[in-house]
Amino acid sequence: MTNNNNPIGMFDSGVGGLSVLQHIRAVLPRESLLYVADSGHAPYGGKPVDFIVRRSLAITEFLLEQQAKAVVVACNTATAAAIARLRACFSIPIVGIEPALKPAVAATRSGVVGILATGNTVRSDKFAALLDQHGQRARVIVQPCPGLADCVERGDLHGPRCQMLLARYLQPLLAEGVDTLVLGCTHYPFLIPAIQRLAGPTVAILDPSPAVARQLRRRLETGSLLTGEPATGGVRYFTSGPPEPTAALMARLLEHPVKLETLPEQVRHDTLERLRPEI
Ligand code: DGL
Repeated sequence: MTNNNNPIGMFDSGVGGLSVLQHIRAVLPRESLLYVADSGHAPYGGKPVDFIVRRSLAITEFLLEQQAKAVVVACNTATAAAIARLRACFSIPIVGIEPALKPAVAATRSGVVGILATGNTVRSDKFAALLDQHGQRARVIVQPCPGLADCVERGDLHGPRCQMLLARYLQPLLAEGVDTLVLGCTHYPFLIPAIQRLAGPTVAILDPSPAVARQLRRRLETGSLLTGEPATGGVRYFTSGPPEPTAALMARLLEHPVKLETLPEQVRHDTLERLRPEI
């Protein structure tokens, strides 16, 4: 039986989903959150899709064991790979994230939009459907960005490798006249200062996280799942990776200390049983 005061679960391949968490905290400050960083298996961007599905199932099962009343897949790559499977397997509201192409196409003045995302996201059927639906009214240039999420995972937000990758990925888009950049990976909002420096002040950068937070609030409202507690909600953080460096990185990105818990052994490791062939 779902309780309104139960927490909302969230997960990402690592620390990227914290960019979504910040918006959810702002929109739903009274809700309790559980955040899982699958840092032991990050990045997801070039991994086999079956593997990402297994990780998403394992983490969602863990969040449900912790009484989550809803789950946010705070990762474009996992949304593209696994959200249909998660919705088929679990009956609670599951909110995903995808590149903000529709508002970008509406906002562009040059008529050229750039999308930065992981390889798995841009290769997915879900992304192809998004392009079909909204990509007709502008020229859309899709740029896969291998290595970029990994820079954020290592805390490199403006070091030489990060700058080199950003220059490699952005310059061709800027040369084509892109004036609107869509961040199709939840790690990338942490690179906005570096991206803006390279792209210049006239290029708009779109992050779908505020829309995800509003969509979550709508789902909770319509399901009568908003918390009844007057108290301010807290966050519990979990990781499958090394706790100390992950906690230090999270604290740096969130600008406050983070108490990090290690995921239970059976959730930390990949197991083929997670394929759930019966469903
Ligand atoms: N943060 C993720 C996303 O939104 C995944 C990055 C990665 O693990 O490659 O796609």
